[in-house]
Amino acid sequence: MNLFDLSGKVALVTGGNGGIGLAMAQGMASCGASIVIAGRNEEKAGPALASLRELGTRCAFLTGDVTKKAACVKLVADTVAEFGRLDILVNNAGTAVRKMPQDYTEEEWHLVMDTNLTSAFLCSQAAYAPMKAQGGGKMINIGSMMSLFGAPYATPYASSKGGIVQMTRAMATAWAKDNIQVNAVLPGWIDTDLTKRARREVPGLHERVENRTPAGRWGSPPDMAGIAAFLASPASDFVTGTAIPVDGGYSIGM
Ligand SMILES: NC(=O)c1ccc[n+]([C@@H]2O[C@H](COP(=O)([O-])OP(=O)(O)OC[C@H]3O[C@@H](n4cnc5c(N)ncnc54)[C@H](OP(=O)(O)O)[C@@H]3O)[C@@H](O)[C@H]2O)c1
Repeated sequence: MNLFDLSGKVALVTGGNGGIGLAMAQGMASCGASIVIAGRNEEKAGPALASLRELGTRCAFLTGDVTKKAACVKLVADTVAEFGRLDILVNNAGTAVRKMPQDYTEEEWHLVMDTNLTSAFLCSQAAYAPMKAQGGGKMINIGSMMSLFGAPYATPYASSKGGIVQMTRAMATAWAKDNIQVNAVLPGWIDTDLTKRARREVPGLHERVENRTPAGRWGSPPDMAGIAAFLASPASDFVTGTAIPVDGGYSIGM
């Protein structure tokens, strides 16, 4: 038995058209999974799909704004309609608005909470029935170092990512008997569009991260591929409710 074999499995990755989501999709594709990537930006989807096809996987892009319940329900339904099943859901779509807590508008708070946390709740809720009917599944939620730490410019982001960990634990306990494993991944500082923007806005951030990370470097998206393959595969069938840092040691260093 190949513990990491994902042949015949179908994965839906929100925000899978770039960054960490695409790298996780590639990790699962390289183990044999078919992949559906979802997002709003169709331009990014072309190269993302091409990279997945190079791995020999069957794949598709679905457009959807995961802040809307109807879109989450439709993403799951369309995946099942097109690929016949849904085995793995990666709740990866995310955004950030950097401000001091006193300066956020209510709309900005909701944008970050809805994109990062409510979307994961809604997609998981939609995915539950098809996974249960199939006899099991894997849900992988993307947290952050902000699931563990606070920061002055990240109140809604940290709230949403802290919520991801607790939502993961709650759903893991609810659905363990249905053979659905629910886990969170907490990336450290990874070089993506999201953090490129942070590096532009925060002088000295690049060096601060390098110095604070025991591995001495930023992560790159491919650093996230292995954890996706593990949490999507039979190798993790008795692993549920965890929040696993993939951070070059950032969360355990001084
Ligand atoms: N990079 C890091 O250092 C880091 C660290 C910890 C956690 N994370 C988390 O990792 C995840 C991926 O981030 P990333 O760094 O890879 O950034 P990214 O490249 O900006 O990816 C974010 C993805 O989310 C999608 N997205 C955003 N809002 C959406 C919406 N309303 N509906 C559908 N899709 C939406 C985007 O797709 P569209 O543009 O097509 O909408 C995009 O593909 C996020 O949850 C982020 O919080 C990142």
